[in-house]
Amino acid sequence: MKWTIIVLLFTVAFAQDVDDEELALAEACDEELCKLPDCRCSSTDIPGGLQPRDTPQFVTVTFDDGVNVINIETYRRILYNRLNPNGCPAGTTFYVNHEYTNYQLINELYNQGYEIALHSVSHQTPQTYWAEATYEDMQREFGDQRIQMAHFANIPIEQLKGVRIPFLQLAGNNSFQVMKDSGLTYDCSWPTISYTNPGLWPYTLDYASIQDCPIPPCPSASIPGVWVQPMVGWLDLNGVACSMVDGCFWVPDRNDEEAWYRFIITNFERHYLNNRAPFGFYVHEWYISAYPAVNSADVLDWVKNPVPLDEYKQKPCRTFVQTSCPATTCPARAEHNGVSRYTYS
Ligand SMILES: *[C@@H]1O[C@H](CO)[C@@H](O)[C@H](O)[C@H]1NC(C)=O
Ligand SMILES: [Zn+2]
Repeated sequence: MKWTIIVLLFTVAFAQDVDDEELALAEACDEELCKLPDCRCSSTDIPGGLQPRDTPQFVTVTFDDGVNVINIETYRRILYNRLNPNGCPAGTTFYVNHEYTNYQLINELYNQGYEIALHSVSHQTPQTYWAEATYEDMQREFGDQRIQMAHFANIPIEQLKGVRIPFLQLAGNNSFQVMKDSGLTYDCSWPTISYTNPGLWPYTLDYASIQDCPIPPCPSASIPGVWVQPMVGWLDLNGVACSMVDGCFWVPDRNDEEAWYRFIITNFERHYLNNRAPFGFYVHEWYISAYPAVNSADVLDWVKNPVPLDEYKQKPCRTFVQTSCPATTCPARAEHNGVSRYTYS
């Protein structure tokens, strides 16, 4: 009798140990169990079962990499003071890496109302570093970066929600697991070529993803509550898929504004005339002025609580708490000797 009890206890303890180390493999999604606002199966279905004509066509404008005195002029010129057709400020998401970043300028972008998201501390090469990155590597690159960004740019940490891995190189489950453990909400690094027409809407990783994996390894574990914003590919002039507009190979002549306009509209209409999956793209200020641009977090807010377009248009504009960071009031104080360092250059 005694022996049986001891053996049973041992088995339970052992099973728990294994659980801690290995993530559960994600199962096929169950629409009955996976419901908004915290869970969504990967699919091309419009959230909330809305008709396309009642669905806002979101356009997400994003910029990657360091922000500094060289590129801030472009951002000021093409983005500041732009409004969407409903009168609210147009959104943009900046995926920022640490190197060559001036944190005073990040604070300026934040105070202009733009979303700041994470693009790693090191942004290092080669690309295989990211493919093989461990949980601990990703913790240093993104978990630590969230704390660092909040501190140096003086941004409320809960406003830092998104991740884009350099080179769009996924690292299997690891980055998503780090996101979950670090309080990050969504990833926008995962391209899809198979689900462009109709496009794949954002979804969570509670259950197995149906998304194709153009840059493996992709996650296959169940990581509840973490969102994927698929990068729905564009098609270049020869029909070759590209995840980022500046990654498209066959594009119109850079001086041919008319051809560029047609090129963008052709890609846009694949979304707009179909299931209105969010349309992501890079730059071009005359286009930003013509269509509603939101940031990546706005898209998720809508997906979690989908309301028809007419209602969405009535919504108050996004709000945020201003946190100024002029050079003289936002230094980082060194703990060991109390001397201040300034996070601009
Ligand atoms: C992700 O986790 C699942 C479940 O533990 C595992 O089967 C799979 O191999 C992992 N993927 C990678 C790339 O590590
Ligand atoms: Zn980059």
